[in-house]
Amino acid sequence: MPPGLHLQGISKQFGTGDASVLAVNDASLTVDRGEFVALLGPSGCGKTSTLRLIAGFERVDAGAIEIDGTLVAGDAVHVQPEKRRIGMVFQEYALFPHVSVLANIEFGLRRMTATDRTARTREILELTGLAGLEGRMPHELSGGQQQRVALARALAPNPALILLDEPFSNLDAGLRARVRAEVGEILHAAKTTAIFVTHDQEEALSLVDRVAVMLNGSIEQVASPHELYSRPATRSVAEFIGDANFLPGVAHGDTIECEIGILAARQQIKGPVDILLRPENVELLAAQPGLPAARVRHTLFFGHDQLITVQLPTGTFLTARLGPSDAYVPDLPLQVAVRSPVIAFPRSS
Ligand SMILES: Nc1ncnc2c1ncn2[C@@H]1O[C@H](COP(=O)(O)OP(=O)(O)OP(=O)(O)O)[C@@H](O)[C@H]1O
Ligand SMILES: [Mg+2]
Repeated sequence: MPPGLHLQGISKQFGTGDASVLAVNDASLTVDRGEFVALLGPSGCGKTSTLRLIAGFERVDAGAIEIDGTLVAGDAVHVQPEKRRIGMVFQEYALFPHVSVLANIEFGLRRMTATDRTARTREILELTGLAGLEGRMPHELSGGQQQRVALARALAPNPALILLDEPFSNLDAGLRARVRAEVGEILHAAKTTAIFVTHDQEEALSLVDRVAVMLNGSIEQVASPHELYSRPATRSVAEFIGDANFLPGVAHGDTIECEIGILAARQQIKGPVDILLRPENVELLAAQPGLPAARVRHTLFFGHDQLITVQLPTGTFLTARLGPSDAYVPDLPLQVAVRSPVIAFPRSS
């Protein structure tokens, strides 16, 4: 069975000369049929541009796009957006304001017979939990309900692919968590291939099975949330996902020598490296007489945990995540230890 979506090295440049922007740079991604994948990256990294290329609103400069095994872009092919069988949900719900929920959902079903249309609408209302609200006008719904109508309208014509661009950013924090869980369940039940764009890590990591990390127009890594955090493929991904300390060291295959001592390496590596230390893997121990001590420089208290910044004897700063103890006063001398094995990246400079 072909994948639900396949991007093969797609690129898109806007403008020319000095003013040009390479918004999408040789991006590749394969999404299984029925899979729900987040496209996560900082503002301006090319997420919306990628969705616009997939949807067909823009033409690719290079590369190819296949939806359900059909080439829709590339090799001089450019299938028109309305022929790509794509449903879209954007930040601004873009419902038709002057017609009912029912009419909004039926919009994409105009070509069906009246009987089929009624059956399909019923099915979608049930799936999205909107049954009973079909007679309401959009302004008579909450923000979360409106977002479900937008999703219902996108799903109704049974698209091959659903694209969601920052669909929850208009909702306040409390509602957002609930609506995103609902949308996740609806898409799961609908078994539709879906790509969900966000720059919010927590949103991406908590909602989907796999996350594609986009940085500077390219997809750097596609992996489960757990793997992205514990085994980032590049230093840039490690920096972007969660909190990261980097400590210089020299790798000798299985081990890495650094200021804290000799650490076990998770992968074979040699030469100058930057060791990734997540704050929860940094341990603070009592200072030992005769050994140079690290010093507490700063604490950031969150209640259930706290981030303690310590300075190593050479001057490098590290943060440690610890439980809510009040023992870590400024200038307290300490010994720093690390839970290994650790991940390291070849030093770039
Ligand atoms: N039509 C366009 N003309 C010129 N430049 C563009 C155009 N569309 C996007 N860009 C540029 O391409 C880059 C990527 O933009 P894009 O909108 O894809 O980012 P994004 O990842 O969706 O960001 P955000 O999280 O802020 O929505 C940006 O530098 C942007 O300014
Ligand atoms: Mg965008």
